[in-house]
Amino acid sequence: MTSILFLAMYSSITAGYTILDEERLRTDLFASYDQSIRPPYNISQHLRINVSFFMSAIKDINDAKGTISTLGGFTFSWIDDRLMWNVSEYGGIREIVLQHGQTWLPSVIAMNAASLAFFEYQDTFLRLQSNGSIGWRFFTHVETSFKPDMTYFPHDTQICSIELSLIGYYPSEVALYNETQDIILDGYQTNKKWEVVDTEAKPLYIGPFSGMVQFKMELRRRHFYFDVMIMMPLSVFCVVYVVVFLVPIESGEKVSFAITLLPTFGVYLSEVSDNMPKVSTQMAYLSFYLVAILFGTAFSCVFSIAISSLYFKRQQPAPKPLTIIAHIISFQWLMRILERCQISQKKSDEKLKQTAWTETESYAVMSSQHASKKLNNIFFIYACLGVIVLHLFAIHAYFLR
Ligand SMILES: *[C@@H]1O[C@H](CO)[C@@H](O)[C@H](O)[C@H]1NC(C)=O
Ligand SMILES: *[C@@H]1O[C@H](CO)[C@@H](O)[C@H](O)[C@H]1NC(C)=O
Ligand SMILES: *[C@@H]1O[C@H](CO)[C@@H](O)[C@H](O)[C@H]1NC(C)=O
Ligand SMILES: *[C@@H]1O[C@H](CO)[C@@H](O)[C@H](O)[C@H]1NC(C)=O
Ligand SMILES: *[C@@H]1O[C@H](CO)[C@@H](O)[C@H](O)[C@H]1NC(C)=O
Repeated sequence: MTSILFLAMYSSITAGYTILDEERLRTDLFASYDQSIRPPYNISQHLRINVSFFMSAIKDINDAKGTISTLGGFTFSWIDDRLMWNVSEYGGIREIVLQHGQTWLPSVIAMNAASLAFFEYQDTFLRLQSNGSIGWRFFTHVETSFKPDMTYFPHDTQICSIELSLIGYYPSEVALYNETQDIILDGYQTNKKWEVVDTEAKPLYIGPFSGMVQFKMELRRRHFYFDVMIMMPLSVFCVVYVVVFLVPIESGEKVSFAITLLPTFGVYLSEVSDNMPKVSTQMAYLSFYLVAILFGTAFSCVFSIAISSLYFKRQQPAPKPLTIIAHIISFQWLMRILERCQISQKKSDEKLKQTAWTETESYAVMSSQHASKKLNNIFFIYACLGVIVLHLFAIHAYFLR
């Protein structure tokens, strides 16, 4: 819309006057003009400068450093009442073009700029209208900083802003005001990595020295690539690792299968961390997910080795501690307690229960081979549960927020 207005401003010039008229106008306007004195004529009054920002592109977002560089144009407008004229006295001239440096100009800085650079507006032009209204528009590249929040990477949203302020004047003398309620996005080139969710323009008055206007944007990362290239392969990897427990122990391949998977994960881990911003302040849940998978794979390697070595002891009785562990983690003890409760409740069935009791008791002595198979099945169930729980957490964190 602004660009249309701007075009309209250019086309409104009517060709009813000559160069002589304009020369006369310029001489009259600037005869006693001092560009170091701010408007308005009654200097005890406050000067209001309206500003709007149209963003044409986001060039780059560095989420590790927390900087965003945007390309766009700022439009400042104010009234300089020393520069008014009567249109009919100057052959109908309604507006003229001025060069940078001919009039008083505000010194604008971005308060949250990533580098201490002023805007480069040396070669800019201004349009002056007969009612003293000045429109100053320039196109620039601003690099500002923001606080990256990587918690939900790659499903994260970041809040970035450009905070404009004036230097040299108190806000009570000259202050910036937003001319629009948001950043103008007509002609914005969509970014391939980030999506603009929402924008806002608002005045910020924090201290006596900071009459600021903040242009804020909420950006959401386009996460499809990361879902397909990181999240999905990692889930598949988890499933493959659970399958380790399904490899028959007799084949003797269980351990080698588990071990060969481990370096694959290592390669993958470095691949993933290349894509991840390396920040320690707001660690991504994805890092914890990776660490959980790493621990899972390490445990399944260790258990595969333990189970296999136990299996090849054949008919020897399993070591006592192992049988106890097997009892505890397979919830055999829970069964017993339940059974005991039933026994105390139903005394009529006492005989029958007693036989069941002795049967479970006999479980305490078993062969190594038997114990290893039992443990393998238990670990398989635990691994499945672990993977399911991990993915429930992941789904909750990434998709159900
Ligand atoms: C300048 O502005 C102040 C405040 O608005 C007003 O009180 C004063 O009369 C004005 N002076 C002139 C010369 O217009
Ligand atoms: C600045 O914006 C206000 C509110 O929209 C408007 O009343 C005023 O005329 C604008 N000033 C200039 C110089 O455009
Ligand atoms: C502008 O100039 C014309 C011609 O000199 C005059 O008639 C008119 O009153 C002036 N208008 C203003 C607002 O001074
Ligand atoms: C100044 O005049 C132009 C057209 O002549 C108009 O569009 C603009 O709104 C005016 N500005 C103010 C602040 O009155
Ligand atoms: C300036 O921003 C505030 C807060 O976003 C908004 O309420 C106000 O309408 C804006 N001013 C203009 C002239 O749009």
